Formats: sequence, structure tokens, C-alpha cells
Amino acid sequence: MKVVIATHNRHKVEEILDILSGLEIELLSLDSFPEIGEIVEDGDTLEDNARKKARTVYDATGILSLADDTGLEVEALGGRPGVYSARYSGEYATYEENNLKLLGELKGVPPERRNAKFRCVISIIGNGIDEIAAGEVPGRIIEHLRGKNGFGYDPLFVADGYDLTYAEMDSETKNSLSHRARALEKAKTILTRLSRGKQSPEN
Ligand code: IMP
Repeated sequence: MKVVIATHNRHKVEEILDILSGLEIELLSLDSFPEIGEIVEDGDTLEDNARKKARTVYDATGILSLADDTGLEVEALGGRPGVYSARYSGEYATYEENNLKLLGELKGVPPERRNAKFRCVISIIGNGIDEIAAGEVPGRIIEHLRGKNGFGYDPLFVADGYDLTYAEMDSETKNSLSHRARALEKAKTILTRLSRGKQSPEN
């Protein structure tokens, strides 16, 4: 069985390949389908966006497609940036700009009120298949950027039970506990079930 990872984000592809590597599935990235351009994430929820990405890639390739959408939900900000995490400080915002905006919005908020969680939703779309897997990690937003690894809000997020930010962890450690890892563990179960015969042979 083949599966296309429906994202252009290099970091995500690496994390997803790493976590799904034990499965007997041929994993393809969007590099194999250059004709599929950027997919606009204009849904109101993470679920909508994940589905839209997986559906677009499935419709274009005819191959089972897996897409994730992730949001950082900060309690003191009423759940923002949430589904707008990528463009928090503007349409083409860099990770650095988004991190600085987040620090600005939380200026003066004490440590005990800086709770946040990463939430990841994965959509798997294929021939008659529409599955969702979700994972989340609670934690908090610290007051200064720490660490150089990972991407996005990694330098500002410390998961409950840990002292290091995601960006201070090596990729193996982050991938063992992250929101995406938790969602992918559930996706793995779904993919295993599908590979055992529920999917048509050409897919
Ligand atoms: P996306 O729409 O799923 O690509 O994610 C939206 C935004 O959330 C990204 O632009 C990143 O800023 C952030 N994000 C997603 N996953 C992670 C992660 O694992 N660590 C840190 N930030 C992330």
C-alpha cells in the first residue's frame, strides 16, 4: 500500500517519516507530485484544514493521502492562535515573527497563567475512506526563546512533565512525546487496518 504525506513542510515530512517508518507501507512525499501546489488552509477548524489537504492530494493522485493540521492553543488568549497558528502575525509570517507576537501578547502574564496545548489532527482520505486521528500535548509558553531545533513555536513550548522546550530536545525525544507523535500513533493503527485489506489493490 502507498500513502502520500500531504505536506510541503520539510520538518513535518521528516517527523512523519520517522514515526511511521516501522510500517510496511510505501510513503511518498509531495516532492513526487510537483504539479500539486500550495493548498490554501482556509478552514475554520484543524479538522477542516487537515481534511481539505488530504482530500486535495487524494483527488489529484488517486493514492491514499495523509495530512495533518496543527494549532497551538493558549489558554490566556482564549485558545488563540489555534487554527491561525501559521499566520498569527500576518499572511506570510515567519516562525520568528509568530513567536515574537506570541511573547508580546503574553507580556506580563505570570507563569501559572501561561498554559497552552499543541493539538494535531490527522486526516486520512482514500477510496471510500475518511478517517481522523488526533493528539494533543499540554504544556506552557515560557518567557524567552530557548533552543534551535525543530520549527514553529518549538522554542517557546515546554510540555508538562519536562524542563526542556521542544526546540532544546533532539528530534528523537520530541518525536517520542509530541502532539504529532500521539496523533500518528492513532493514524498508524488506522493505516495498519487499511493495509490489511480494506484498501483496493491499486492504492
Ligand atoms: P500547520 O498548519 O499544521 O502547518 O501548522 C500551523 C503552525 O503551527 C505552523 O506554521 C507552526 O508555526 C506551528 N506548528 C505546527 N506543528 C508544530 C510543532 O510541532 N512545533 C511547533 N510549532 C508547530
